[in-house]
Amino acid sequence: MSKIEFESTDNKVGCFIYTNLKEVKKDQIDEIKKLLNKYGVLFFKNQSLSPEEYMNFSSNFGTPAEYPMLKPHKDFKNIYVIERKKTDTGKSFGEGPHTDSSYLENPPRYTFLQAIDVPEEGKGNTIFYNQFLAYEALQDDIKKKIENLKGIFSSQGKIAQTRELRMADHGTSGTKEIKSEHKLVQSVDGRKTIYCSPGHVIGIVNLDSEQEDLISFLSSHQIKENFSYSFGWKKGDIALWSNRSMLHAATAFNGNRKMFRITIQ
Ligand SMILES: [Fe+2]
Repeated sequence: MSKIEFESTDNKVGCFIYTNLKEVKKDQIDEIKKLLNKYGVLFFKNQSLSPEEYMNFSSNFGTPAEYPMLKPHKDFKNIYVIERKKTDTGKSFGEGPHTDSSYLENPPRYTFLQAIDVPEEGKGNTIFYNQFLAYEALQDDIKKKIENLKGIFSSQGKIAQTRELRMADHGTSGTKEIKSEHKLVQSVDGRKTIYCSPGHVIGIVNLDSEQEDLISFLSSHQIKENFSYSFGWKKGDIALWSNRSMLHAATAFNGNRKMFRITIQ
C-alpha cells in the first residue's frame, strides 16, 4: 500500500497533500477521501495536472455538476473558467464567506479549484473556515437550540446584491430568486458541522423574532480566527473542499487571476 504524504495546517483547519496526482493510485484516493472527511479542505501542492487529468481525478469523488451561466473550458464542459482581470474593478468574486450554491435544493457536495494563472504571493488568497471546529466550539445551549432548525438560503443573499455580481460569482440567473431550506446542523462521517452560508442565509424557518440575532451570532462565530486558514495559491495548486464542512471566501485584490473550477454533486 502506497501511503500519501500529508500535513495538516497548524490549527487543523485543512490539510496539505504533496503526493503527485499524476501517479495517484486507487488506495491513495481512498486515503485522500478520508482526509477530506476529516479536515474539510485539502491543498494539493506542486501539481501540474492537464485539464484531462484534472477531470479524471475529480471524477473519483462523484458526478460533475453543471453551471450554465459560467464559461466552460473549450474542451471540457464540466471545467468552468473563473477569470479576473486587472481591469475588473468593483466586481465581486466570492468575497465574503459562503458555501457554494447553498440556495439549491441539492447543493454541490465538493468544489475543486485549480490555479492556472495567479498573482504574486500574498495576493488573491482564498480563506477557508472549518465548520467542524466552529460547531465544536459552540456552547451547549446554542448547539441544542440550532439542532433542528432550518435556514432559508437565497441566491439573492448578501454575497450577490446585483445581477452582475451573481453572474460573476456563481453563475445563477440574474432575475429569478432561487431559495431552499436546509438544516443548520449537518453531519459528515458522524461529525457535526454548522451549515449556514452567511452570503446566502436570509432567515430561519419558524423563528421570526429571533432569526436576525441568531444569524448574526452564527455568522460572526463561524469565521473566527481559530477556525480559519488563508491559502496562498501557486500555479498548479489544487484545492478540494467539502461544501458541507467548510465556508470559504475570496480576498480582494487588483490583478489577473485564472482558475479552473469543477463542482461535484
Ligand atoms: Fe465560492
